Amino acid sequence: MSLNIEELVSIKALNTMGLASIARYFVRIESVEALREALAFARVHELPIIALGEGSNVILSDALDALVLLNRIKGREILKGQGDTVRLKVGAGERWHSLVCWTLEQGFYGLENLALIPGYAGVAPVQNIGAYGVELKDIFVSLEAVDRQTGEMMTMSVAECEFGYRNSVFKHRLKDQVVITSIVVQLNRTLIPNLAYGALKDRVRRISSDAVTPSGMDICEAVCAIRREKLPDPDVLGNAGSFFKNPVVSEVDKVRLKAAFADIPTYQVAEGWKLAAGWLIEYCGFKGYSKGEAGVYDRQALVLINHGNACSKDILALAEEIQATVSERFSVSLEIEPIIY
Ligand code: EPU
Repeated sequence: MSLNIEELVSIKALNTMGLASIARYFVRIESVEALREALAFARVHELPIIALGEGSNVILSDALDALVLLNRIKGREILKGQGDTVRLKVGAGERWHSLVCWTLEQGFYGLENLALIPGYAGVAPVQNIGAYGVELKDIFVSLEAVDRQTGEMMTMSVAECEFGYRNSVFKHRLKDQVVITSIVVQLNRTLIPNLAYGALKDRVRRISSDAVTPSGMDICEAVCAIRREKLPDPDVLGNAGSFFKNPVVSEVDKVRLKAAFADIPTYQVAEGWKLAAGWLIEYCGFKGYSKGEAGVYDRQALVLINHGNACSKDILALAEEIQATVSERFSVSLEIEPIIY
């Protein structure tokens, strides 16, 4: 098999932030064999690899001296589960939202709260995608990945992925070390609604004819409706979802902040107190603010947007200004969530 490796390819249309970016080499792969060939090419040419799904969680610089690899390995395989559960093996190149809809059509539940998240299945573990009270790690079983150096296939369990809040081993120890080729998730044949997130519960009540036992589709629809209201459609306005993580602070800091800012939202989590980064940013007056071609979305201050012609430097300059202001006002640091290349 010979790969079609192209040179100097614009990937502006392949990242949801819509940043103008040129890849020195570019290849689209649809099989593990093709992936191994691409890895060999990168080794011979001593190139780093940037594996993209939808490019929905990356900030790309103008010129990428790398092999950009569009992972389109498909596959939806129903594996045996025990009792009421079912396991699905999903190719890395399956679109996340199509997968969510397909599982609901099959009568498999567990992904409904994660509807409409941009991106592809193989990238979901990298940031442990999450929304409305559910994270990938809650339904995740294992994944397969190819070692970039040796080309060997490995299987990793949920523990080995070291999932945390918008975090995993693939952002740290295994960053740039492997390419994920498939994931296995465990779903249920009976719906167990997770409506812990208040706004979701309210929306489901409005949608469902039976507010006590909503269907999986009702929940999916409610999630989609909330997301459409709050988050910009990347086809219309370039963005990478939440640009910062919600910071987690200590009890001491929480008390200090509550004393100074009575309305500040705080949520208790295992590690301490989670703050709403969107609230901090809005409080500093940034909602709807623009700095040249980069801006802060006017309906959700945690989302940075590209007005059309921003480059990564513009986005990062705005991010720095926001970080500095929030740090000065609250003594809280904001961590950038997407991966910067
Ligand atoms: N808020 C404001 N102003 C804003 C935005 C938020 O005051 O402009 C405050 C409000 O108090 C609101 C709270 O922040 O109640 C939470 O806002 P929201 O429900 O919109 O959620 P979020 O914390 O901003 C997180 C995730 C989203 C996920 C939603 C729903 C992170 C970094 N972001 O956002 O994930 O969809 O919760 O679960 O954890 C993503 O990661 O790309 C993403 C979109």
